[in-house]
Amino acid sequence: MSTQAHTPDELLGVGEMSRRTGVAVSALHYYERLGLIASHRTDGNQRRYPRHMLRRVALISVAKRLGIPLDDVKEAFADVPLTDTPSHEDWQRASRRWKRTLEQRRLGIERLEKELTGCIGCGCLSMKACGLLNPDDQLGDTGSGARRIPV
Ligand code: FES
Repeated sequence: MSTQAHTPDELLGVGEMSRRTGVAVSALHYYERLGLIASHRTDGNQRRYPRHMLRRVALISVAKRLGIPLDDVKEAFADVPLTDTPSHEDWQRASRRWKRTLEQRRLGIERLEKELTGCIGCGCLSMKACGLLNPDDQLGDTGSGARRIPV
């Protein structure tokens, strides 16, 4: 992992961060509460973000577009201190990780699609026979008869 240092005088107000990233001020505050970004406080208690936080917010925006949970974003960059900019290598590592996540999701959706195809035109909604109601026949060992599925 390589990181880049930044001078402390490169600071942006929260409105400027919002304008430049397209992310709402409230979302920036939320990201900060989660520890995904960090700011300094002025004497007047106003937030000032180091310029390199723009990159962090961009990474979060990409992850959100991919449907990656914010917890996963935090984990993916856990070893990059908030004082540093995630490097090209950091981004490559995170993007590989998120690609694997998307592949797993795609496989899950394909599996559901196959099960749904078996239901089209059927309509039995059988707790025993329907793969969507009883994935992998989880109820098969618990006896016969109808069962409720917890929702
Ligand atoms: S509805 Fe009959 S198998 Fe799913």
